[in-house]
Amino acid sequence: MSRERPNDLGAFWLPFTPNRDFKARPRMLSRAEGMYFHSNDGRALLDACSGLWCSNAGHGRKEIADAIARAAHSLDFAPTFQFAHPDAFVLAERIAALAPEGLDHVFFVNSGSEACDAALKIARAYWQKKGEGGRFRLIGREKGYHGVTFAGISVGGLANNRKPYGPLLPGTDDHLPLPYDRAAMAFTRGEPEAGADYADALDALVALHGAETIAAVIVEPMSGSAGVFAAPKGYLQRLRAACDRHGILLVFDEVITGFGRVGAAFAAERYGVVPDMITFAKGVTNGAVPMGGVIVSGKIHEAFMTGPAHAIELFHGHTYSGHPLACAAGLATLDIYRDDALFARAKTLEKTFEDAVHGLKGAARVVDIRNVGLAAGIDIEPDAQAPGLRGFEAMRRAFFDEDMVIRVSGDTIALAPALIVSESEIARMVESVRRVLGRLG
Ligand SMILES: Cc1ncc(COP(=O)(O)O)c(C=O)c1O
Repeated sequence: MSRERPNDLGAFWLPFTPNRDFKARPRMLSRAEGMYFHSNDGRALLDACSGLWCSNAGHGRKEIADAIARAAHSLDFAPTFQFAHPDAFVLAERIAALAPEGLDHVFFVNSGSEACDAALKIARAYWQKKGEGGRFRLIGREKGYHGVTFAGISVGGLANNRKPYGPLLPGTDDHLPLPYDRAAMAFTRGEPEAGADYADALDALVALHGAETIAAVIVEPMSGSAGVFAAPKGYLQRLRAACDRHGILLVFDEVITGFGRVGAAFAAERYGVVPDMITFAKGVTNGAVPMGGVIVSGKIHEAFMTGPAHAIELFHGHTYSGHPLACAAGLATLDIYRDDALFARAKTLEKTFEDAVHGLKGAARVVDIRNVGLAAGIDIEPDAQAPGLRGFEAMRRAFFDEDMVIRVSGDTIALAPALIVSESEIARMVESVRRVLGRLG
């Protein structure tokens, strides 16, 4: 961190934050190590959401910092338009090796949003290459979060992210239903038993529009930002089968579920379902350097590798695609995941975490608890006059009263600790949430 202190807090416009409230009573983080952030008033704050679902190996990993420093000293930047550097190829190979068989090419970008945007563009361009340019529709899901680009908010299903920005991307009006019904599913542990048939909604959209107009379906295998909604048992298999029946590409947005969050390298592995593309970001560098990407099937990649050899196959990319510092961070991060067997650790801890969070059933104002892997969503009964206020207050109280950083989305608390979390830290997290809930208005 620079040693300079801000004169005032006016200049920085914070994203996804009530700025006036923040600046009146800031929550400032100055250092991070292991499971803890440190505030600038000297408190150690238990990080209950891996930063922003990204620091899966815990903060301040020396191996990653050293790798970034080495890269900065030896190759601070290298273009990947028409040139490249070896680490980008090595990292792509390592990521593809973690993905299901058949997903073997990696396109690098710098964030989860860009990853989703790239996947959706690849889907449309793929069908043009195949001579089926009439397949333009991109189908998302209610409550889906695929980042903040126009494409991402268009296939996304979070109303606040969409409403101010219309009209949105043509061909994205249809959304599958979220496979969730509180009346039937409240307090389910892990994946709900019933609900696979929510995937049949795709058949209805095919009946309405014709399969020949649909390019791709994009879903999060576990909806994270909306508040941790696990896919019901068999749902993703059924969606895969429906896509196959109608020749539609299936994209798993694994920006959150990738790199161990659900006890496997990817949710595709946990559920034994192979999509045509996987988007990733966050955990790939443990949050240390921005990076994202799309893992693409051989079938899709092959479709682009045609035409004259001198011609660019995909007119897409960013100045910082495959940036040397991000690649160095990614390689060091994947070493840690492997050497510390962190994906297996997440799987082992899942039951302990599940028992702990479901212990909050009956706590003040809790109306549902959901969990999968090392992620949990705790729904608080909203204030009828001010939806979102109790969630916001819970986040503030956790920070100031409980020395804990939690993530809230509306009136849902999300807990998603790093995969290095201890059982006692899980217990502490839950007890802090219980106290916070007890103090809400
Ligand atoms: C599933 C999913 N997709 C995309 C994104 C967007 O990623 P980013 O914030 O890196 O643009 C997120 C961010 O939380 C996400 O959870």
